[in-house]
Amino acid sequence: MIKIEETIYTVHRGTNSRLIKNVVDLYFKQGDSIADVTYGKGVFWKEINKSLYKIVGSDIKTGTDFRHLPYTSSTFCHSVIDPPYARITNLKGMVDCYNTTRFTTHKEIIKLYEEGLPELKRITKPGGYILCKCQDEVCGCRQKWSHIEIYDIALNLGLYAKDLFILVNDKMPKVLHKQQHARKLHSYLWVFQNN
Ligand SMILES: C[S@@+](CC[C@H](N)C(=O)[O-])C[C@H]1O[C@@H](n2cnc3c(N)ncnc32)[C@H](O)[C@@H]1O
Repeated sequence: MIKIEETIYTVHRGTNSRLIKNVVDLYFKQGDSIADVTYGKGVFWKEINKSLYKIVGSDIKTGTDFRHLPYTSSTFCHSVIDPPYARITNLKGMVDCYNTTRFTTHKEIIKLYEEGLPELKRITKPGGYILCKCQDEVCGCRQKWSHIEIYDIALNLGLYAKDLFILVNDKMPKVLHKQQHARKLHSYLWVFQNN
């Protein structure tokens, strides 16, 4: 285990990359292998000394769908999933980056976790951690508590909910229309443990 220089709290204000660094410091050991199945641009790993871990990144953009991973069972110490959970925009840049649009439904987003988490459980060694990023949303004027839906999916798979981090974004998004619910400035990172 890496020496922890600062106390790590449930609520973190700042960036994904610093939050991931905190979680890695707390839960991973030097030399651990990690499958990041939604690697994207690798932003999560920006603050990590990558020479200390074996990080294997894949993404649908480079031909690997996390619903059908090309790894044998229990290959990795830990795994990470950060699917497109934001239906926030239809801008081309965002669509290209996240493979999502505002026309994606909440059900379709949750389905990504339903189909992805069993694969992460399969490729992660018993006792290993599955880091799972998500965010609640309002869809069709109704609150959708995604982090609770994902907790239920994980428990049904037999995973243990070891920890939950709340990431508070520093940027204040503009409110474009009349507010009907509190605006969300936070997202979640579940740490599930495989049995
Ligand atoms: C929120 S971004 C991930 C950002 C990443 N964590 C980073 O640090 O850059 C979501 C990523 O999921 C990928 N993705 C969407 N559906 C996927 C699938 N079925 N299998 C694998 N990757 C997928 C997208 O291509 C996109 O890169």
